[in-house]
Amino acid sequence: MSKRPAQSPPLAVVILAAGLGTRMKSDVPKVLHEVCGRPMLAYVIDAALSVSPERVVVVTGPDQDAVAAILPVGCERAVQQERLGTGDAVRAGLEPLSDFDGHVMVLYGDVPLVHGDFVAGLFQRHLDSDAAATLTTVTLADPAEYGRIVRGADERMARIVEHRDATPAELALDEINVGLYVFRADALRPALARLTSDNAQGELYLTDVVHLLIDAEHIVSTFAADDEELCMGVNSRVELALINAAMRRRLLERLMLAGVTVEDPETTYVDWGVEVGRDTVLRANTHLLGRTTVGAASEIGPGSFLRDAFVGDRARVVSSHLYECVIGSGCTVGPFAYIRPNTVLAEGARAGTFVEIKNSRIGEGSKVPHLSYIGDAIIGCDSNIAAGNITANYDGFEKYATHIGDRVLTGSDTTIVAPVTIGDDAFTAAGSVITQDVPPGALGVSRGKQQNIDGYAERRAARRLREQNDAQ
Ligand code: UD1
Ligand code: CA
Repeated sequence: MSKRPAQSPPLAVVILAAGLGTRMKSDVPKVLHEVCGRPMLAYVIDAALSVSPERVVVVTGPDQDAVAAILPVGCERAVQQERLGTGDAVRAGLEPLSDFDGHVMVLYGDVPLVHGDFVAGLFQRHLDSDAAATLTTVTLADPAEYGRIVRGADERMARIVEHRDATPAELALDEINVGLYVFRADALRPALARLTSDNAQGELYLTDVVHLLIDAEHIVSTFAADDEELCMGVNSRVELALINAAMRRRLLERLMLAGVTVEDPETTYVDWGVEVGRDTVLRANTHLLGRTTVGAASEIGPGSFLRDAFVGDRARVVSSHLYECVIGSGCTVGPFAYIRPNTVLAEGARAGTFVEIKNSRIGEGSKVPHLSYIGDAIIGCDSNIAAGNITANYDGFEKYATHIGDRVLTGSDTTIVAPVTIGDDAFTAAGSVITQDVPPGALGVSRGKQQNIDGYAERRAARRLREQNDAQ
């Protein structure tokens, strides 16, 4: 549902994302660096879309097709040919909006904790104060490298001073420009046309638009953010880590409020979009990444790493790594299992200790409890694969499939040389190398027959004695 005030005037959002991100020291555009598994720009776009604007324009550099590639349908790209500063970037963003008449919200692509409620509040404040421009400010204990808000004797905002241009007295100011604004388009356009680059960075500053509007006696209002974190911008990887931590905490809080127990939030990592059901417990040192979904009343961890995994209800995953797999309800995994892509554990199945499974289906109630490798196999229901079984699925050229039926009991240390089929209700003897199909109900035995040599210990002792005598 739209968070936009009813019957509000037209709104366009321009998101600035063309900056070089020099301080990131990266070959990847800054706004594509990930926060909880997702490019930071995607969060800003979400915030923009949540107020249902008429248009959303993302300003990128000419060399940033990778940024354009992540834009959702309905978002337009504008290209800023040269990085001449934030003012020039907005000018580029307005090019596709030349016929747009209404309000223009400007968001920075590197301030990703911004969210829909906040953006809606900012827009409402702008409309309520009938301003030509409204900018977000926040008071910070450490105002670092942000632009400082200078207020006049009447407490009205007078100027924004970039930290590089600031005097020591101005640097001591703790109210800063967050970089989230709304302008009236008819006030913004002429002011942008008048910008000059007369400052420490030789750039066209968007913040100077605010000064031009103040000078022309337009109403400029400020919107005080009460959430310091929301205002954090990413300039270096140090800030990227701080933003990740803040976002992660938010995601974990959302899960906890929805009924998930998070044993140790400090060591639990969830990506954006991860879903976890009610009464599930996430134990310490657990990572739920990518498109991972966990059902209700399950227990994940301690020490589990899941990427793009689907886990059902009442399942347990202890100290294991899971990738692109489906773990059915009531399954148990680990400790120390490695479940690789295209593996399905049907309901109630088990993959136990030191077990690796890839591209296989383990049927309902079947168990692979210890020390096994299962690859390219289909195992039916209620079968038990004993300790140390290996599917030999690869001859160095191709991979071959193994089929194991229902209610099969293999012996310990069975090597199953694919392609091979073991029928329903069949058995294999411990230590067998199975190279041929085992029919339903049969026992496959393939090992040397045991021979016992009687009196061996005595013969050995006699030999030792002989050799000692010879040596004297
Ligand atoms: C800017 C503000 C500063 C504020 C801070 C908040 C200006 C002049 N200063 O400073 O007052 O406290 O943000 O985070 O606006 N960009 C372009 N093209 C350009 C330059 C920048 O698209 O030519 C984009 C960047 O990708 C980024 C955003 O604009 O998303 C902000 O640019 P950045 O250089 O990071 O500005 P700051 O120095 O942080
Ligand atoms: Ca910045």
